[in-house]
Amino acid sequence: MGEFTDGIAGRDARAALRIAVVGAGPAGLYLAILVKKRFPDAVITVYERNRPDDTFGFGVVFSDATLDIFERYDAESYARITQEFAYWDDIAIHVKGEVHRIGGNGFCGCARSTLLTILQERARSLGVAMVFQTEADAEAFDDHDLVVVADGINSAYRQRHAEHFGTTVDLRPNRFAWMGSTRPLDAFTFLFRETEWGPFIAHAYQYERDRSTWVFETDPDTFERAGLAQLDEAGSAALMKRIFADFLGDHPVLTNRSIWRQFPMIRNARWVRGNRVLLGDAKATAHFSIGSGTKLAMEDAIALYEALVTEAEVPAALAQFERGRREEVEKTQHAADVSLVWFEHVARYLDFEPVQFAFGAMTRAKAITYDNLRLRAPDFVARMDRVFAEGVRRAGFDVSLDRPAAPMFQPLRLREMVVPNRVAMSPMCMYSAQEGVPGDWHLVHYGARAIGGPGLMFTEMTCVSRDARITPGCAGLYTDAQEMAWTRIVDFVHANSGTKFCLQLGHAGRKGATKLMWEGIDRPLAEGGWEVMSASPLPYYPDSTVPRAMDRADMAAVTADFVAATERAARAGFDMLELHCAHGYLLASFLSPLTNRRTDAYGGSLENRLRFPLEVFAAMRAAWPPHKPMSVRVSATDWAEGGLTPEDSVAIAGAFREAGVDLVDVSTGQTVSAARPLYGRMFQTPFAERIRNEAGTATMCVGNITTPDQINTILAAGRADIVALGRPHLADPGFTLRAAAWYGADGIHCPPQYAPGKDQIFRNSVRERADFEDLKLRGRPKTRAELRLPAAQDAS
Ligand SMILES: Cc1cc2nc3c(=O)[nH]c(=O)nc-3n(C[C@H](O)[C@H](O)[C@H](O)COP(=O)(O)OP(=O)(O)OC[C@H]3O[C@@H](n4cnc5c(N)ncnc54)[C@H](O)[C@@H]3O)c2cc1C
Ligand SMILES: Cc1cc2nc3c(=O)[nH]c(=O)nc-3n(C[C@H](O)[C@H](O)[C@H](O)COP(=O)(O)O)c2cc1C
Repeated sequence: MGEFTDGIAGRDARAALRIAVVGAGPAGLYLAILVKKRFPDAVITVYERNRPDDTFGFGVVFSDATLDIFERYDAESYARITQEFAYWDDIAIHVKGEVHRIGGNGFCGCARSTLLTILQERARSLGVAMVFQTEADAEAFDDHDLVVVADGINSAYRQRHAEHFGTTVDLRPNRFAWMGSTRPLDAFTFLFRETEWGPFIAHAYQYERDRSTWVFETDPDTFERAGLAQLDEAGSAALMKRIFADFLGDHPVLTNRSIWRQFPMIRNARWVRGNRVLLGDAKATAHFSIGSGTKLAMEDAIALYEALVTEAEVPAALAQFERGRREEVEKTQHAADVSLVWFEHVARYLDFEPVQFAFGAMTRAKAITYDNLRLRAPDFVARMDRVFAEGVRRAGFDVSLDRPAAPMFQPLRLREMVVPNRVAMSPMCMYSAQEGVPGDWHLVHYGARAIGGPGLMFTEMTCVSRDARITPGCAGLYTDAQEMAWTRIVDFVHANSGTKFCLQLGHAGRKGATKLMWEGIDRPLAEGGWEVMSASPLPYYPDSTVPRAMDRADMAAVTADFVAATERAARAGFDMLELHCAHGYLLASFLSPLTNRRTDAYGGSLENRLRFPLEVFAAMRAAWPPHKPMSVRVSATDWAEGGLTPEDSVAIAGAFREAGVDLVDVSTGQTVSAARPLYGRMFQTPFAERIRNEAGTATMCVGNITTPDQINTILAAGRADIVALGRPHLADPGFTLRAAAWYGADGIHCPPQYAPGKDQIFRNSVRERADFEDLKLRGRPKTRAELRLPAAQDAS
């Protein structure tokens, strides 16, 4: 945060800034402390409707990193807070009678009432005026320079001006209640219990001697079945006590306004209205499963304080606060979203081996990964690797259990095809074929990548007829010349690598007759185009060619083209076949309600929209050798209002599973030009995970996955069975070989010509890895629990 310049202070140090703060929660109090400390002349009044010692909730929790920040900003309150806190280092996950402990987390907790008392005393000592038992209206205070609206989750001011602030409240379905117990805990503890009504979760941590916070959580159906809606506070505490009795022992479950509620994810498009600014929960909430909202509230206060220091005028400071803070808040909210969704769907994972369940819980919000856990909890990851290898052994592979390979280097069987590792090269159009014939470019492209070692490699979308092409440069498999050219490439791959080769067959539909990627992707050809068809006569862009709606004869002809290409693929020697039903191409246009407006048996219900893609699939399956697998690529969401949803995709995957699909290749979007995808690391993986664990099909995920660490994290957590990389393979054909060297997976295939290169990277990476891990371990700051900083109470 660096040196401060003299903003408001420098403007006119004599003029006393008048600030009203509505709400004496952590956000309001901490802001008052920081500003008053820096600008002693400022006149700051904090209004609070409750009494000073009234408080709801039990403990609050901070990470070590957050405490470091507090130390920098106010050493006095930091010192008091850290004296009062209980520290711990482990996260403990209790599931199905097993306990998995993962160290190196560095957390601490204290009573919310203690925190507020410390902050109140500190504010008072600095000269902040505090008015309790007073309902304040943020609308008043017109004569003030700044009004800080820190009145919490139900902020009256925000609600009144919801339109101005652009407030959205996403009320999550799960029910939760904050309770407490006297049960001591020496770790941040997650307990998962399966009951006759459904699963219950407890998020628990100790915050002072004989006091721990217990947030109980369950899904709405379980809540209903357990009759919690009819129970009063004491009754529901008694039920929680019964459910978690084996862990709680004689310790009671305590209540304090412990009402069951639904968590509101609150977001505001704007945080400022004139000289009034939303702070803390009033502005944005973050689910309790990633740590307390208290942290976010106090860090907000720091950011607003910083803006007041650096900017000379209040409006500029408020603008700077919003500009500078938004990204961090949104990142935290995104992580909280991902985390809460994991808890909402916990039933999906309860059939997992407990260690895999725990691995999934630990890695749910993306920040913690396989490699990161290998450093912090090597035994835990070793057990995870072994359990993964045991699953592979059960599938009939003679893999080592004593020295199991990392998940990405475990083999997989699809029908009779053995994929030697779980990295795939995603289908990537090269736009470089002549009249659909793949040439030297394709031989070198696919040849080099196969030698680089992925277990499975997909061809680019290969078109089933001339009019099925996306662009004039797209590859095809509808002539003898094309079949011969593909056969040459397949033979090369088989002769020189261990990679299995899958042909992706598709029809462009309404996205056909468009320009090469580098000349204007999805834009219609200026000349030399051809007639395009689709489920309905809707153009992709307003200025795109309007497609012809297919009739039965068109459907029969297209099906016949897919079958003919399938027969050619079998002759060319491909190991596997994929039917492209994603990205808005012909078959995808039938699946999505946004592109299928048909009124016949092929439009309307999902069952009807599936009819044609399933007919094509069934015809191909019948023509494809029974021992060879088939996959289907789907866009699991259209990322657009009224489009395909993840629920639909589970049903679509289920229908293809019934039709004999062996793997669902889960992509998203590109169906309609108005789509608004939410990009991020591994952003499509949640869709693959849902399909895998709800539809019960093997899945391949793809999308912004760039490191072997991410691949291992996804596989170990049971989110997909194979992980595909597209763009990373364009930049780096040797991606898998290098990852194998990193993890010491020396079984990877390498042609003899390249063996010296392989030997060298394997030799070097042992040392590089050891150096890297050593650096990481030495670079990791010691947690407060490890340092045994003075804590008022020993949490153990
Ligand atoms: C029921 C419940 C229990 C919780 N328990 C915990 C817990 O145990 N641990 C934890 O870490 N987090 C807990 N949280 C979350 C946590 O309290 C918040 O994330 C955090 O306190 C946000 O700080 P804040 O200052 O923005 O808001 P708050 O802490 O909510 O503070 C807002 C304050 O404004 C006051 N106020 C509101 N309107 C007015 C008005 N018009 N005039 C005057 N005063 C007003 C309120 O009384 C309140 O004191 C809980 C949340 C809820 C809803
Ligand atoms: C240039 C390019 C061409 C692509 N061609 C195809 C294709 O032919 N078939 C297909 O299903 N997906 C295609 N995709 C999508 C990729 O397979 C992959 O899903 C996408 O790039 C996301 O993965 P990544 O983040 O690893 O690149 C293409 C993507 C790019 C960037």
